[in-house]
Amino acid sequence: LFQSVEMAPRDPILGLNEQFNADTNPQKVNLGVGVYYDDNGKLPLLECVQKAEKQMMEAPKARGYLPIDGIAAYDQAVRGLVFGADSEPVKSNRVATVQALGGTGGLKIGADFLHLVSPKSKVLISDPSWENHRALFSQAGFTVEAYPYYSAAKRGVDFDGMLTALNLAPEGTIVVLHACCHNPTGYDITPAQWDQVIAAVKSRKLVPFLDMAYQGFGQGIAEDGAVIGKFVASGQDFFVSTSFSKSFSLYGERVGALSVVCKDKDEAGRVLSQLKIMIRTNYSNPPTHGATVVTTVLTTPELRALWEKELAGMRVRIKQMREALVRKLKAAGVKEDMSFISQQIGMFSYSGLTKDQMVRLRSEFGVYGTDTGRMCVAALNSKNIDHVCASVAKVLSA
Ligand code: LMR
Repeated sequence: LFQSVEMAPRDPILGLNEQFNADTNPQKVNLGVGVYYDDNGKLPLLECVQKAEKQMMEAPKARGYLPIDGIAAYDQAVRGLVFGADSEPVKSNRVATVQALGGTGGLKIGADFLHLVSPKSKVLISDPSWENHRALFSQAGFTVEAYPYYSAAKRGVDFDGMLTALNLAPEGTIVVLHACCHNPTGYDITPAQWDQVIAAVKSRKLVPFLDMAYQGFGQGIAEDGAVIGKFVASGQDFFVSTSFSKSFSLYGERVGALSVVCKDKDEAGRVLSQLKIMIRTNYSNPPTHGATVVTTVLTTPELRALWEKELAGMRVRIKQMREALVRKLKAAGVKEDMSFISQQIGMFSYSGLTKDQMVRLRSEFGVYGTDTGRMCVAALNSKNIDHVCASVAKVLSA
């Protein structure tokens, strides 16, 4: 049975972790996967999470099966965060939200559901995009193509290219958009450009799927989520996947969600019933712990305020690391103008380094980023940044 099974290539992001863990270089730095580490290089356990867990342990609960769509209070809290508790679609009960296994889980449930209702549609992702977008929508049965996004020459977004591609896309095309903190480039479009994208998507009758994995890592929770309000105002149906992996530092708990904005309550009820089939036939129902933590934090005013403060702390530290990187690369002898790094936002910097340079960084210096040149600036700290800058300088000079 397995004789003809071929060895699959390593995952371009998570596969790097395996290589990093096996590396014996004492100076190794993991800028591969999108994970925030604090200035001591430690994965933070947020104080708001610890307080919520303490509260949960004081009144321990048995772990029965959750409903297929997850904890009702969690789904409600997600809708409140993403759309606003008093927003029209939430008040009209026309948003179907399900708890999902991280942002990836939300995307997968959405992709499976879309394949059920629109199997012939094409999927358009940005060029470049998070590596898993293509794989995930392909696995769900779609043909995946790309719309222009990044221009290396401009060191920014090729907005004309993006808009032209959207205006040429056939009706029903599913368009995956990064709500904020574009992964991998770190370049977002402006609010005015979003208006143009939304108008194009609406007039071409495309299906928008917003991936919002980094809310709070760009300008702030509300600012990063502002595009959702714009889509609501445009009166279109759309999908939003949410992740709390990064914003709550709960990577291993797999806490996320999928929300589908529908025309009315009746439609949302029917969509929800189908999403539940996708979940039931995949992993039955989601786990309890992480979603209970997030619900407790989001619905307890002091914990919510603490979370916002801790998230702001992560956001500010990343910005400081970007500025330090620009300064220290120059000091290490890099001739090129690297100031673009502090114009990018979110966890990543698209460094412009080639695959060969990224491989050299890894093999000679133990500095891990993806082959595409993406580096996770959220993993830089005051102790590893000099080694990273010296290594990049050496790779760029020879
Ligand atoms: C990343 O892009 O590194 C993160 O979203 C983690 C992942 O699952 O790939």
